[in-house]
Amino acid sequence: MAFDIEMIKSVYAEMNDKIEAARKVVNKPLTLSEKILYSHLWDGKAQKPFERGKSYVDFSPDRVAMQDATAQMALLQFMQAGKDKVAVPSTVHCDHLILAKEGAKEDLRSSLTASGEVFNFLESVSNKYGIGFWKPGAGIIHQVVLENYAFPGGMMIGTDSHTVNAGGLGMVAIGVGGADAVDVMAGMPWELKFPKLIGVKLTGKMNGWTSAKDVILKVAGILTVKGGTGAIVEYFGEGAQSLSATGKGTICNMGAEIGATTSTFGYDDAMERYLRATDRNDIADEANKVRQHLTGDSEVYTNPEQYFDQVIEINLSELEPHVNGPFTPDRATPISQLRAEAEKNNWPTKVEWGLIGSCTNSSYEDLSRASSIAQQAIDKGLKTKSDFGINPGSEQVRYTADRDGLLSIFENLDATIFTNACGPCIGQWSRTGADKGEKNTIVHSFNRNFSKRADGNPNTHAFVTSPEMVAAIAISGDLGFNPITDTLTNDKGEQVKLDPPVGEELPDKGFAVEDNGYQEPAADGSGVEVKVAPDSKRLQLLTPFDPWDGKNITGAKLLIKAEGKCTTDHISMAGPWLRFRGHLDNISDNCLIGAVNAYNGETNNVKNQLTGEYGPVPATQRAYKAEGIPTIVVGDHNYGEGSSREHAAMEPRHLGVKAVLVKSFARIHETNLKKQGMLGLTFANEADYDKVQEDDTINFLDLDQFAPEKPLTLEFVHADGSKDVIKANHTYNDTQIGWFKAGSALNKIKELEKK
Ligand code: F3S
Repeated sequence: MAFDIEMIKSVYAEMNDKIEAARKVVNKPLTLSEKILYSHLWDGKAQKPFERGKSYVDFSPDRVAMQDATAQMALLQFMQAGKDKVAVPSTVHCDHLILAKEGAKEDLRSSLTASGEVFNFLESVSNKYGIGFWKPGAGIIHQVVLENYAFPGGMMIGTDSHTVNAGGLGMVAIGVGGADAVDVMAGMPWELKFPKLIGVKLTGKMNGWTSAKDVILKVAGILTVKGGTGAIVEYFGEGAQSLSATGKGTICNMGAEIGATTSTFGYDDAMERYLRATDRNDIADEANKVRQHLTGDSEVYTNPEQYFDQVIEINLSELEPHVNGPFTPDRATPISQLRAEAEKNNWPTKVEWGLIGSCTNSSYEDLSRASSIAQQAIDKGLKTKSDFGINPGSEQVRYTADRDGLLSIFENLDATIFTNACGPCIGQWSRTGADKGEKNTIVHSFNRNFSKRADGNPNTHAFVTSPEMVAAIAISGDLGFNPITDTLTNDKGEQVKLDPPVGEELPDKGFAVEDNGYQEPAADGSGVEVKVAPDSKRLQLLTPFDPWDGKNITGAKLLIKAEGKCTTDHISMAGPWLRFRGHLDNISDNCLIGAVNAYNGETNNVKNQLTGEYGPVPATQRAYKAEGIPTIVVGDHNYGEGSSREHAAMEPRHLGVKAVLVKSFARIHETNLKKQGMLGLTFANEADYDKVQEDDTINFLDLDQFAPEKPLTLEFVHADGSKDVIKANHTYNDTQIGWFKAGSALNKIKELEKK
């Protein structure tokens, strides 16, 4: 398996000049985050400084990673670009579509049956286009990336919010929507608002029960779920250097829970040790040669207030283990206060399950520390009170932990070892009795604990903590148990105390694995056939959207005038619809079903102007499409906020909506509309929103002169024959008008490819 040492060498070779150029334009010492950002500019060396939190900048990431749920639409779209191969190294990881129920073997078998067609599609499309494929059971995307692909000073994007985990090896790694991944794989630049910078200074050294997880649980308590929005969190200080690379990964991973763009750490000895232990001596050697570029300038860390937008300081020597939750990861409670909090808030203290794993905490170190607690329970005659479930992060971790006897310790406590996959972390957990909706408590080492996330039961109180604390609390079966001070009664009736965990940062005997589950793509994929059954309910090959015919759109009907909040979730709902994310036509049956119709205040009930009858939005739109009648959608403020889900733009496009006219857009959704060849317009005069009536017919008067910075004119013909002519602004530049004319950005790429 190639981890692209040549690519990494070329990134490092250019770093010196690029960082020098950045230092000149910024005119001050640089943080690590700035060094990585400025050395990955699409246009080469920095010509001007960018304004944090304001400037939109084109970047050139080094690689792309995709998980099985989001990869489906991303790759279906990529196939439209007419390329033979992806432009940057990319990988697909099958980890989300695997249920945790009985245990690794059985669960993997049944998931292969249930989602076999999706896996086969992903395997064949990866093989064809030069994408590394990690089979079901190979591991969780972010652990596999950390073990194989992350490298200090690199930039990557991934179609999963916890892509940020790779900051543990000093990357700037960012979670994105499928459309962004498609751009980068198709050789286009990737746009990001230049982030703000939050510095976290770590002093002291952890001891006893405290672990890296507690750093981020504490930070989440300070910054809350929104505090990191639009910012990169950069950790530094002696405390940072005392943390293992996988511990740093845990901290970066949960940066997603404070809304941070990403988090990162400077290159240090712990990262070097991890690179060497994971068979990447050559990367460690190369990184050592440019060490000064792989961390912030020293002045930045001595006077952080001058260089970061916000600075937080945490003394690791005094940091107490934390347990965060329930229902939100920023509700931080130090273990010493947990019993009182639980009693005060009436949280059930009987713990039903302890779950260890997820991309957050499934490293060898995590398993070894947690197993040291499990071993004590056995040695001290304790019976565990809760059920245990373990999801190792990768086959390499699982194999090595098995070889070293760590897994058998858990098995001696009747733990279920689930597949190396996301499982309960993403709700892929067939938990017996969860459907009864009983109020109960679980503790886990994952990152998210929103209502229903793990088992679908809204009354499950899920608490996030470190793997060793999960082990201790699950053994006691009591949420209020504080292993630092409390004792437990063993089978002889004696009071025993658990000693603090001990673990190995890296396996003494080195990592080992028989089959890591990786499949190298074909060197020449031209003969590979992509596998999609024509009658599949879950997958559908895309057909290119029609190019613009060069004429004004006339006779368009109003599909819906949405009122109030209309997020990407209102436009393309999640939940049960997720299974159709690889099938555009089927998932389009959720198009705009959550949007509120301004004329009746109802969702999914709009007037069909052809029949005068009210009905669901998708069916109404399909009726217009069948008659060849164009439609437009009208919306309120910040239309399309929420996720970067490209389905929210693809579905209306697929169903024949031509334009979305709103008071204002969430920027990512506006860009997604442009990429799909739609017209995303804003009212020049917001009050014109009120002029739009339910029975309107809309004519574009000057679309045939569509040009940058020139508003468009639309005529709204009302049922009584009266008219309102309004101006609509747009932000299309020449390139984006080219996308509109071609029918989509991908059609345009294909056109250019042919030339
Ligand atoms: Fe998977 Fe949970 Fe991570 S869903 S990628 S293990 S956040």
